[in-house]
Amino acid sequence: MPALSASAPGKSILFGEHAVVYGFPAIAVPVKAIQVKATFQPNIGSQTSVICLMEKGKKNEFTLTDLKQDNLFKSVISQFQKGIQYPIPPFYLTITSTIPIAAGLGSSAAVSVAVIRGLSQFVGKKMNSDQVNEIAFQSEIIQHGTPSGIDNSVITYEKSVFFQKNKPMEFLDLHKELFLVLADSDERSLTKDVLDFVREAMKDNPKNYNRIFQEIGKISLDAKDALITGNYYSIGNLMIENHHCLKNMGVSSLKLDQLVQTAMDAGAFGAKLCGAGKGGFMVALCERSKQKYIAEQLRLFSSNVIETRL
Ligand code: PMV
Repeated sequence: MPALSASAPGKSILFGEHAVVYGFPAIAVPVKAIQVKATFQPNIGSQTSVICLMEKGKKNEFTLTDLKQDNLFKSVISQFQKGIQYPIPPFYLTITSTIPIAAGLGSSAAVSVAVIRGLSQFVGKKMNSDQVNEIAFQSEIIQHGTPSGIDNSVITYEKSVFFQKNKPMEFLDLHKELFLVLADSDERSLTKDVLDFVREAMKDNPKNYNRIFQEIGKISLDAKDALITGNYYSIGNLMIENHHCLKNMGVSSLKLDQLVQTAMDAGAFGAKLCGAGKGGFMVALCERSKQKYIAEQLRLFSSNVIETRL
């Protein structure tokens, strides 16, 4: 059997992170400039499956049975297994990724989606995107506790989404191309920890957090219109407003604030942290002609700057 591969992109949340967990709307876009690739081969002559993470040209191999239940690979493979009625033959899975881990760009959901798609080819079980999305969501629950489902959705369908829990997902038809620059704060945090932080802070100050979430919900609704009509100025202003809300929520950092300021000083329409926060990446919306310059300015403070367009 030849090797079978599947890929999945990263994502950026343009509006509404955290508030989306509490039922408010959010907007996310796929970032195809970064990808996870999962390649499956039969592990001939062995009874066990092996996962090989390729990092900077180095191989890191793990036996599937040795991994803990909450390990990302273990959880997504066991969720996949639940859906099929026969055992998965031993495989050798190679993972290569350009999506930074624990940085707000959806690496865990992208790994899940790529692994599910690769595994479905490997065992010959056809799955549509809705089925892939559902398994990826179950795996996200094991990883993050109370995810909204936005990450697995935008990554599975590879389309810009307007997302609200328990409502049909809307794909956004963007009126104009978006030129984005993403910059790494070079700080890391686990989504689960930041979600726990927000939940605890909310217990102490429910009024304040409810007000912030409502404000963010309104920003996402306005941003939907601005994205559909292609009003860059309005999208940019709303990004800045959203960043301030996230700052008030306590999930920004000095470095993220500095990167947002750098992007704005260099002429971005708007910028904000993206994803869970307390580190990770920020995203800036730029005019096409300024994208390179803004990226250059951000590189002065960030080890990883990604230029992309939608
Ligand atoms: O896991 P991250 O950092 O890509 O961000 C997830 C976005 C949150 O709104 C913080 C959580 C969620 O499940 O929606």
